[in-house]
Amino acid sequence: MTPAADGPAAAAPATTDVADRATAAFRSGYDEQPAGRWAAPGRVNLIGEHTDYNDGFVLPFALPLRTVVAASPRPDEHWTVRSEIADQPVDFGTAEVDTPGRVTGWGGYVAGVVWALREAGYAVPGARLAIASDVPLGSGLSSSAALEAAVLTALVDLAGLDLPTGRRPRLAQRAENAYVGAPTGIMDQSAVIRCRAGHALFLDCRDESVEHIPFDLDAAGLAILVIDSRAPHRHADGEYASRRAACERAAALLGVPALRDVPAADLDDALGRLPDDETRRRVRHVVTENQRVLDTVALLRAGRVPEIGPLLTASHASMRDDFEITVPEVDTAVEAALAAGALGARMTGGGFGGCVLALVETDHSEAVAAAVTTAYAERGFPTPTTLTALPAPGTTRLPWLP
Ligand code: GLA
Repeated sequence: MTPAADGPAAAAPATTDVADRATAAFRSGYDEQPAGRWAAPGRVNLIGEHTDYNDGFVLPFALPLRTVVAASPRPDEHWTVRSEIADQPVDFGTAEVDTPGRVTGWGGYVAGVVWALREAGYAVPGARLAIASDVPLGSGLSSSAALEAAVLTALVDLAGLDLPTGRRPRLAQRAENAYVGAPTGIMDQSAVIRCRAGHALFLDCRDESVEHIPFDLDAAGLAILVIDSRAPHRHADGEYASRRAACERAAALLGVPALRDVPAADLDDALGRLPDDETRRRVRHVVTENQRVLDTVALLRAGRVPEIGPLLTASHASMRDDFEITVPEVDTAVEAALAAGALGARMTGGGFGGCVLALVETDHSEAVAAAVTTAYAERGFPTPTTLTALPAPGTTRLPWLP
């Protein structure tokens, strides 16, 4: 990502490489060299919002912003974690790990990964870890999934565990759902672990099958702007859980395992069998959003990248009007981007704040970013951060250069 407009940077300072920062934190904290370093990216979701926990389809891609964990094994079942955002290390043993929720804050994601591995029957080595990150916290770019994935991959490699990549997202999600207590779906962990550079990840969240869809923005003369709305996440956790519960109730009313099982062609019939307007709108969002993912994938496969713009914009309208998860800041960013010539724009992620993405012709990128900044100033919102994103690789072990 490269800054495309003025305003405070969402990422940590770009002057120091994140892998170097993790290494330096490890050396100064433990007075030794780490055994290795593992990097996991943040993500944006191109389209397919609140479809993952409905067994539906999503199309995220990984960002070049990364979280890096430097780590070494230790002989006992004890874990010490240092982070560049904390003065004190977090330290825990099996007693804390085996009681979900006992380790709180950012350390809880690390303890949750250890817990999930142990619960799945893996012998997890004790470890010393140090974390540095360029993924902004609280912006809806999956900083928590990046942390989980980097730690999980580090522990798997340190112990030499036989855990295929395709099974890792579920374990990271278990950490977040059952240890940290956030009822999220499988998209974020899948994206940060399984994405490939230059591709979007077409994921079927029911069977976790994936297809890597070429997403060559440069060749199409296009760019994706990621605009951090800087809106505070107002009641996001409770609202997310209530949307998820509403979808599960609606699926039960319709007699299907999940809303994924309502084909778009049967939507009107399904809506006619639901008891109230709010439930109908929630279902309409999920069913039409799944179809928009399929339509987007079809256009990308055909190399018709600019034509996905209207699908992105329709996704935003559906989140705003039917799923009711947008806030004035993100609506303003979408409207301003479209008015300035973006081919499509939508909020990305769980909602109630977070980021907006806009598909723009590369030549218009700065003008669109400037238009959003102006619209924000007119509404009295804080200056948004605007970055240009290209699809990056998923979680990797970094080469070691002593
Ligand atoms: C959050 C969750 C994901 C997904 C999105 C909405 O990012 O972590 O599982 O549900 O919201 O699409």
